Amino acid sequence: MRDVAVIGIGCTPFGEKWNSSFRHLFVEAGSLALEDANIAGEQIDSMYVGNMSAGRFVEQEHIGALIADYAGLASHHIPATRVEAACSSGGLAFRQAVISVASGIEDIVVAAGVEKMTDVASGASVDTLAGAADREWEGFVGATFPGLYAMIATAYMDRYPLSREQLAQVAVKNHYNGARNPIAQFRQEITVDTVVNSTLVADPLRLFDCSPITDGAAAVVVAPLERAREFTDTPVRVLATAQASDTITLHDRRDICTLDASVAAGRWAFEMAGLSQKDIDLVEVHDCFAIAEICAIEDLGFCKKGEAGVLTEQGVTALGGDLPVNTSGGLKACGHPVGATGIKQVCELVQQLRGEAGKRQVDGAEIGMAHNVGGTGATVAVHILGV
Ligand code: COA
Repeated sequence: MRDVAVIGIGCTPFGEKWNSSFRHLFVEAGSLALEDANIAGEQIDSMYVGNMSAGRFVEQEHIGALIADYAGLASHHIPATRVEAACSSGGLAFRQAVISVASGIEDIVVAAGVEKMTDVASGASVDTLAGAADREWEGFVGATFPGLYAMIATAYMDRYPLSREQLAQVAVKNHYNGARNPIAQFRQEITVDTVVNSTLVADPLRLFDCSPITDGAAAVVVAPLERAREFTDTPVRVLATAQASDTITLHDRRDICTLDASVAAGRWAFEMAGLSQKDIDLVEVHDCFAIAEICAIEDLGFCKKGEAGVLTEQGVTALGGDLPVNTSGGLKACGHPVGATGIKQVCELVQQLRGEAGKRQVDGAEIGMAHNVGGTGATVAVHILGV
């Protein structure tokens, strides 16, 4: 297997993008990534595009070919493949690109993610997202994603000493980070009061415990490490790629407070990189709801079960803490265009490891982890990057 490096990144601003279409969002992110990698489109060998549900959000299928076409590459006939695993589509697209380059089959590969979610009414977007759960056992009886994660939060708060205020600190921290990220959907700082007094969505989760509905795209370019310096002075190495799956329904889980696929993918990633939790300088975790960040910190082994709330309250996961979590603002404040999120996490790590993260820079960051979840944890992708 060859070593792989990220040589370019690009991300659109996240938010409600009324003036950009699905394809234009992708082209914007892709162009930024190519420019960052100092390459022309003709040099690309193939593309993997993470997308959850363009069919329902914008009534468009056949995404791989569409993207290659609108990137101006139709006449080059490169392979362009859509990758779908709900909210982890981006993480899996990145993994496919890494595997392809590592195998030696392809050299210069684009991994991208795109979602345009705000063209439908919010009821329709919530229903589309519910397709990432089990439609027959969960969706048809009314379970939405806020509802499913509310069940996790209820069980967790029953079993472990997580207070309402500690849970709120997740969003407070992520909004603080998002306020320092130029691409973030929400750039205002908030307080615990903002969270606990916001509209109840699914008890105990309130509006500010939830990630929003978002439009956006992100792209990265990967290449063999041995060729990376042909394109950039600041290649970032991919030290590990891991993917795990689990039951699609929550009720079939061994324990709904633990995402076993996160545990497995995290363990495999650490083994592949030959690293442990203490080596990680920052981590982007999948905080689709505040409780998901709490579970992720524990499931990836950064602390014991039941301890992540206290860690958050103590500022360990804040910028300047021992383990900064979600410096991008996370899904909560940066936004969650579901197919793009996994790629945006990689973009954030690359910016941090290059020392280019501006006001949210983690001093001396050398190794970072990205954790991207599909559904309530039926698919998980974990990557470790380093310089
Ligand atoms: N956090 C903070 N503010 C939010 C927000 C969020 N998550 N979502 C929306 N808002 C704000 C909007 O900016 C808007 O503010 P304004 O009135 O000042 O313009 C206001 O709340 C109402 O927005 P609207 O789009 O009407 O909200 P909604 O009630 O239709 O949807 C949720 C809110 C929480 C239900 C929706 O964002 C949601 O379903 N989130 C979860 C997405 C999800 O499940 N993703 C997959 C996870 S696996």
